[in-house]
This record gives sequence, structure tokens and C-alpha cells, in this order.
Amino acid sequence: MKSIYLDHAATSPMHPDVIQAMIPVMEGTFGNPSSVHAFGREARHIVDVARDKVAASIGASDKQIIFTSGGTEADNMALIGTAIARKEQGKHIITTAIEHHATLHAANYLESQGFDVTYLPVDATGAVKLEDLQGALRPDTILVSIMMINNETGIIQPVQAIGELLKSHSAYFHTDAVQAYGTEEIDVVSLGVDLLSVSAHKINGPKGIGALYVADHVRIKPITYGGEQERKRRAGTENVASIAGFGKAAELAMNQRAERKAAYQQLQDTFVSELEAAGTNFFINGDTGPRSAGIVNLSFPGTNVESLLMNFDLSGVTVSSGSACTAGSVDPSHVLKAMYGEDERVTNSIRFSFGYGNTAEAVAEAAQTVAAIIKRLTKGKE
Ligand SMILES: Cc1ncc(COP(=O)(O)O)c(C=O)c1O
Repeated sequence: MKSIYLDHAATSPMHPDVIQAMIPVMEGTFGNPSSVHAFGREARHIVDVARDKVAASIGASDKQIIFTSGGTEADNMALIGTAIARKEQGKHIITTAIEHHATLHAANYLESQGFDVTYLPVDATGAVKLEDLQGALRPDTILVSIMMINNETGIIQPVQAIGELLKSHSAYFHTDAVQAYGTEEIDVVSLGVDLLSVSAHKINGPKGIGALYVADHVRIKPITYGGEQERKRRAGTENVASIAGFGKAAELAMNQRAERKAAYQQLQDTFVSELEAAGTNFFINGDTGPRSAGIVNLSFPGTNVESLLMNFDLSGVTVSSGSACTAGSVDPSHVLKAMYGEDERVTNSIRFSFGYGNTAEAVAEAAQTVAAIIKRLTKGKE
């Protein structure tokens, strides 16, 4: 049995061109980019070329890109690095109840260090309300961190409107764009963001590499100490091969963005319509507003997450219950809880995410498998 991988929001397969971009670096370019000799200069050149590509993919300039070990580090640096740099201006931070744990746990840490954090709520739409943000803003708010697309539900947050609203406030605006990168058009200037996180492994690049965009005016302190890499903002020898792969993945994503978005949306539509055609009882979580082309979160009444995950896996449909960090655990999703409270949906929902390598036939087959499992699990409960 060949498994059908529908968990691209957790991580995605590497594109062959990305692998080809990395192999020569691993085989031949072992210099340290900080060394001034020829070996070092060769490695530095690879890092510089990739940095230009990543910068271009979000409308930034090369000096505004800090390479990190992924989305988690980028989020941590955005929150902790700016909070420490601006603590004399204020100690209030605003984020949301539905952020990835990379943001939420960094915010929790800042609370333990004396910062005051407001977690904006969401309702069943799963989207943050501008009025709530407006109401939470204070003169001492130094940072607002709101994600672009939620990783569990695919719900798109009103980042552009938030950027507009924050133009008249001195708080920095950070967005975690990890799930938007690759399918959504991202232009840091028109979005009005000061900081933005991306990760390579969600866009068919290598794992363990990402970037934080930092606008020129932003004051940020490093969260690691050592050498003077990344313009003294992120110490540590650069991961040259992964950076090369990230550059290639960013270039591909930028050139193919519209086609990818259309293709993933079509896969999602195929999946949902096949389930409907099979008479499956399900709800789309957060069906009221714009959602990502690649992510759909479905609630199956009368079931529970653990048995769904086990049955899908045994039948070759690879999915997860939400963020990869909590997958497999029985903890109810903090995102669905924020949307629905103590509702049955919190314990019977599954995320399906589509991407590179999925075909319409495979997705339709997966939907039929899912439909058969739901029928079996809910027999007699209708
Ligand atoms: C929205 C979001 N932010 C941050 C991360 C963390 O990124 P990384 O896995 O590169 O550390 C993820 C990964 O699941 C994510 O979905």
C-alpha cells in the first residue's frame, strides 16, 4: 500500500531542483562564509545569492534578511529580540490565541520576564477582529504579532488591514507568514509589516532553515551570542547548503506561486467534493472567510481524533490533527478551542493539507478512503 501524503502544512517534500542546488554545495563548498580566503569567499557567495532570492520573494532587500534555523527561531527572535530592545518604551505585547506555539510560547516566556501580553480572541470565523486589536492597543504596546495564515485551519488573517491600522501606532508589527509563504503574494512594504517569519521546509525546501525579515528602522537584540554573522544579529556559522536550498525553493515558489495556488485549491476542492459525493457527514472548520488553498480542517461528528488518525494512517492516508508539534498527543487543539470553546469539533477534527507531488487521482482516492472510514466509525450513530 502506497500512502497518500496530505500533511504538507507539517512539512513538504523537497523539490528535485532544491536537492540539485544543495548537492554541489555539500560536495564541494565547505568553506566558512566568515573566512576571508578563497574557500570562505566561495561559501559567502552562495549565501549572498540565496539571500537575494529570499529577499526578492517577499519584496525585501538583502540586508533585511536574517537566516535562522526555521520559523520557530524567526518567531522567537521577532518577539524576544524586539521586546528586549524596546523594553524602555513599554512592556505590552499583543498577539492572538491562535498563533503557532513558536509565537505563543515565546510570548509566555516574555510574560515570565515581566512583559504584559494580550492574547486576542477569535470567534467561529477563526479570524482576528480589527476592533479587538484597536481596543487592546495601548500607548505602551511595543509589538503586535499576528500570523498571516493559521497552520491548523488555513484561515487567512486580515494582515494588510492590521498593517494599515498600525501605521498610526509606534508598535512594531510582526507576522508569522510560514503557512502563507509559497501560495500567497507577500510584499513586506505593501503589507506594512516590520518583521515577517518564513520557513523553507513548508515550500519544498530543506528543514532547519528559515528567515526573519527585519525592516531597516526596527531595533532588535540578538537572542544568541557569539560571532558577528548576519550583521551581528544571529551568531553562528551559516548552514550554507541549506541556505542554498532555501534560495532555490524561494525562487521556485516565487516563479510558480499562482500555478501552485490554483493547483492546491483544485486538489482541496476535489477532496471536499469527493467526500460530499460519498455522503460523508462533515463540517469545514472556519468556512465563513478566506482560507488557504492548501489547508482544510474538517470536523467529523461522532468520531474522535485519535481513532481518526489511527484509521487514516493504517489505510494509507497521511494527515495530522493540527500543528505538527501537538500531533499524536491527545491535547485538544488550542486553535479550535479558541474558535468553538468546549465543542465536539475540538476533539473530532483533522487537518488535510495539499501540495507538491499530490495528484487529483490520489486525492480523490484518499477522499474515498476517508469516506469509508467515517461511515464505518459512525455506523449506528447517525
Ligand atoms: C505558522 C507556523 N509558524 C511557525 C512554524 C515553525 O516553523 P519551523 O518548523 O520551521 O520551525 C510552523 C511550523 O509548523 C508554522 O506552521
